[in-house]
Amino acid sequence: MTDPLFDLSGRVAVVTGGFGQLGTELAVALAARGMRIAILDRATEPPERLRERLSDGVVRAHTCDVTDREAVEAALGLVEVDWGVPHVLVNAAAIDAPPDAPAAEVGPFEEVPLGSLEHVVHVNVLGVVVPCQVIGGAMARAGRGSIVNVGSVYGLVSPDQGLYDFRRAAGETFVKPVAYSVSKSALVNLTRYLATYWGAGGVRVNTLTPHGIENGQPAPFVEAFAARSPLGRLMDVSEAVGAVVFLASDASSYVTGANLVVDGGWTAW
Ligand SMILES: NC(=O)c1ccc[n+]([C@@H]2O[C@H](COP(=O)([O-])OP(=O)(O)OC[C@H]3O[C@@H](n4cnc5c(N)ncnc54)[C@H](O)[C@@H]3O)[C@@H](O)[C@H]2O)c1
Repeated sequence: MTDPLFDLSGRVAVVTGGFGQLGTELAVALAARGMRIAILDRATEPPERLRERLSDGVVRAHTCDVTDREAVEAALGLVEVDWGVPHVLVNAAAIDAPPDAPAAEVGPFEEVPLGSLEHVVHVNVLGVVVPCQVIGGAMARAGRGSIVNVGSVYGLVSPDQGLYDFRRAAGETFVKPVAYSVSKSALVNLTRYLATYWGAGGVRVNTLTPHGIENGQPAPFVEAFAARSPLGRLMDVSEAVGAVVFLASDASSYVTGANLVVDGGWTAW
């Protein structure tokens, strides 16, 4: 039985960052619920899990830098020709300092190069603003739509630098950089801004705040995370799906400007 409250069949979703860990999971999960999915990602090599869906045409991929307005407009044009104006936009594309980031980027706050901060903010904030302008704008003209901006617990509270003690114990100078926190906190209020801006226009805008998705992290990190998590563990990527289905579907028809926190209780204490 399909519960009409959560029924997404026949609708169209754009998932930015759809070749990434979370984006792939969401693209597959929404496709399994009868949606057609357009992925916007600057990566060109699809993950294995998407190949079947890409070959049967339920999922399409558009190589696209989401900070590039012309590229996003071009991708939307192609989506609209065959599928019409999207019903759902999930903004999951983002960057963070990789484990092998240059020492200065993960060094003391006082010394962080402003260029690296600028780059992360550029991708993580403008990379949500631009798809909202272009795709959200089209949704507003159609008078309906749901946008999910993927934030992070690090956009709500500070990283616990103790989580990374194992790196310092191994002789590295490692400070979880401020750039990601700055960029993700901006999304919470971008969401509120757009929720009020488009409220009467039928487009709902919400933040999804996940935390700590299991992805083969080093054992000392997993242990340190578990010790600080009320649920005592990292999150399986599939545990983000229910929240996105809720926010995308009519089940959340009166929910806008909200922040749905899926963090295993991390921010509860
Ligand atoms: N993994 C976690 O533990 C975690 C926790 C909290 C929040 N998040 C958030 O969830 C979202 C997805 O994270 P993930 O772990 O799947 O990351 P990921 O690195 O696996 O995927 C990110 C995707 O975004 C794409 N991308 C980056 N910059 C882009 C650009 N300018 N244009 C187009 N595509 C671009 C990348 O190619 C990649 O496919 C992000 O917003 C992230 O901040 C992740």
